[in-house]
Amino acid sequence: MRVLLIGAGGREHALARALAADPGVDALITAPGNPGIGAIAELREANITDPVAVAALAVEARADLVVVGPEAPLVAGVADAVRAQGIACFGPSAAAARLEGSKAFAKEVMAAAGVPTARALVCTTPEEAARALDEFGPPYVVKNDGLAAGKGVVVTDDRAAALSHAEECAQVVIEEYLDGPEVSLFVVTDGEAAVPLLPAQDFKRVGDHDEGPNTGGMGAYAPLPWAPDGLIDAVMSTVVYPTLRVMRDRGIPFQGLLYVGLALTRQGPRVVEFNARFGDPETQVVLALLETPLGGLLHAAAVGTLGQHEPLRWRDGAAVVVVVAAAGYPTAARTGDVILGAEADGVLHSGTARDDNGVMLSAGGRVVGCTGMGPDLASARSHAYQLVGQIKLDGAHYRSDIALAAIEGRVRPPA
Ligand code: AMP
Ligand code: GLY
Repeated sequence: MRVLLIGAGGREHALARALAADPGVDALITAPGNPGIGAIAELREANITDPVAVAALAVEARADLVVVGPEAPLVAGVADAVRAQGIACFGPSAAAARLEGSKAFAKEVMAAAGVPTARALVCTTPEEAARALDEFGPPYVVKNDGLAAGKGVVVTDDRAAALSHAEECAQVVIEEYLDGPEVSLFVVTDGEAAVPLLPAQDFKRVGDHDEGPNTGGMGAYAPLPWAPDGLIDAVMSTVVYPTLRVMRDRGIPFQGLLYVGLALTRQGPRVVEFNARFGDPETQVVLALLETPLGGLLHAAAVGTLGQHEPLRWRDGAAVVVVVAAAGYPTAARTGDVILGAEADGVLHSGTARDDNGVMLSAGGRVVGCTGMGPDLASARSHAYQLVGQIKLDGAHYRSDIALAAIEGRVRPPA
């Protein structure tokens, strides 16, 4: 099978590694990719949010399967255009990707499906926003309605800051604060059958102890030693299957990766958000542990035969990823700094590029994700930080507490 992978981040580097290791994948082409991916796949130029250009590339590359990594191409209709050429595509249609593309739409689908989530109000004026803030009280949660690369959400006790975020956005969703540890659950689906991957935990805030602004994600680990028994079954039956049913009933079946972001509250699991693609950096740890060949799994979802797929097999042990970010991230990341040590195995590239002389430079906010593995979380964590220690990048910063609370038994879902 020839696979065309779309995207350029750490998530795509992890997808590329798993696809390249699948004996059923004979050729792996990535557009646009990055220097890390270039070591294991053929790189092609393409404007990946242009559906016509991506479909043309899929035809030219004689792809049997296109795997779309990021949300922007999905929301733009890349999967629709690829499928219109008769080529299998892992990723939802533009209509179904609105589960991520519009938080208001996602809330409306959750309500129709009876999915447990935070109570929310959609606001378009400062007066509406002010009323909603006072209805829910602090901590305030204000979400830009559109795509914002993981940075459109402000959670704060400061009412003025909450209101000013609302005023900066055309439309916001203001909602009840959900208290409890967060879990990212990825579900591969063909629209009807659905296969959950291992749950992971992401670290959204930029600083240690969850301080500072939200980012795209500063680190992750899997598995979750503290996850309550029955969590996955409960999420599949209360969240995933009802959502897939509503999407089918509306004639917009969701096929691809449904990312369920959850908070485990005292009242039970509540959906924080849906995404229409693999999470970054959680994918780096989840796929490090997946033994089942990834290409075959994604192809089965793309062509509607997931119900006949063999049960997933997982490696023993644990994985931890620590993101090394550029100076200034997430507010204003500095790029163009020389980076050393990024060629080591386990270092997955996000924002890297090579200059004309082949020197590796930082080219984005999250630069690399150092992914460690080991027989348990503690050893996976030390492996990850050992890789971090070998990265040389002026002004770089990273969190020093990824997976630490879980190892020390300090993460406890409410009883
Ligand atoms: P989202 O883009 O919706 O995932 O939000 C980004 C992050 O903001 C989440 O991962 C949470 O850490 C936080 N967040 C979002 N919604 C809520 C909520 N209702 N209560 C508490 N935290 C939230
Ligand atoms: N790590 C969070 C996300 O991918 O949205």
